[in-house]
Amino acid sequence: MTILGSTGSVGRSALAVIADAGADFDVVGLAAGKNTELLVEQAIRHRPQIVAVQRESDRSAVVERLAAADLADVEVVAGVAGAQAVAAATDADWVLTAMVGAVGLQPTLTAIRRGATVAIANKEPLVMAGALCTAEARRSGATVIPVDSEHSGLFQCIAGSDRGDLQRLVLTCSGGPLRAVADLDRVTVEQALAHPVWSMGKKISIDSATLVNKALEVIEAHWLFGVEGERIEVVIHPEGIVHALVGFRDGALLAQLSAPDMRLPIAYALAHPRRLPLDDSPIDLAALGALSFAAPDLQRFPGLALGHRVLADGGTAGAVLNAANEVAVERFLAGELPYRKIVALIERALDAHRVVPATDLDTILAADSWARAFVRSQLAGC
Ligand SMILES: NC(=O)c1ccc[n+]([C@@H]2O[C@H](COP(=O)([O-])OP(=O)(O)OC[C@H]3O[C@@H](n4cnc5c(N)ncnc54)[C@H](OP(=O)(O)O)[C@@H]3O)[C@@H](O)[C@H]2O)c1
Repeated sequence: MTILGSTGSVGRSALAVIADAGADFDVVGLAAGKNTELLVEQAIRHRPQIVAVQRESDRSAVVERLAAADLADVEVVAGVAGAQAVAAATDADWVLTAMVGAVGLQPTLTAIRRGATVAIANKEPLVMAGALCTAEARRSGATVIPVDSEHSGLFQCIAGSDRGDLQRLVLTCSGGPLRAVADLDRVTVEQALAHPVWSMGKKISIDSATLVNKALEVIEAHWLFGVEGERIEVVIHPEGIVHALVGFRDGALLAQLSAPDMRLPIAYALAHPRRLPLDDSPIDLAALGALSFAAPDLQRFPGLALGHRVLADGGTAGAVLNAANEVAVERFLAGELPYRKIVALIERALDAHRVVPATDLDTILAADSWARAFVRSQLAGC
């Protein structure tokens, strides 16, 4: 197996899964960003053939540290091309994409194009380039398996059913850290990062506070399961126990329940169609007592509506949504943009963009660059 984004929240959970499950997996490649300290530790423990760092300037120090640990034969590469080289390592049958953001697009495409089993946590490439990724998977025969907990839940509920019987997909949403916060005009970075259910990287935590994460997931569900936006719903479920539900044409609604812990969807993607033993105590339904569901409040959280809007707009709208969001979230985290302006800027970018078909990488990357420049040009007035 290979893990792109091994030093992140999902990447670390994946390495914990293989350690805890005592499963017999060989780690072929690891790709990280700037946390070279942890990458070297992971390499010493798992002895991959190839590792990638984000910055060329970090490469020689990693080479030296690996040589000192008797791992001089590990290839050390850098940058997006380096992450692509890791994704291309053919000894890995299974590639987990767990980098954050658009930077994962080209490594994800590399893994898909070589026909690997690609477990997708890094949802942004599907949001930007879902049509391209699915077309390339069809061409290469790659198996794409969801890792996002909601999509893993859908995948588990759909297993074994006839696609013609499938009527609707329901994604649950905890509501995020600001669900009960009255004044959304004065949200601090700390408040927005404090997710009540999940412990995750910073970018997805802010996406969860705006509910843009759920919009990205609606688009992700469309591309993963080939279901149009009108049949994808979102319901608020603060307990975070039911991850997704699938409705069938006889009225049956199947749900997937588990503790909010990414190890389960990672393990399911790794072992599918088998299940790995995770040493968790089963959910005690009597102790839980009740599970609650409510309609989302689109007035307070307009970011949630962007998923359906982008699916309706089609083409390069997904790349614009993603890029505008990445820039706005980065500025919010830097304390330079008020919380409410994140979604306002994305909407402005979508309004200003002229959608074109997103069938090739150059067009998608051009839309991404345009949206980043557009949002930056609007920051002064915020
Ligand atoms: N966390 C969750 O529970 C969860 C659940 C479902 C889906 N996801 C999705 O999974 C993806 C990862 O989320 P996360 O929470 O694990 O994020 P994270 O903790 O921030 O980790 C991101 C990973 O990407 C690497 N990275 C960042 N920028 C990079 C760059 N320019 N070049 C190379 N590597 C880079 C980071 O490396 P360094 O740390 O070494 O810099 C790290 O390994 C996201 O797309 C997210 O939406 C996450």
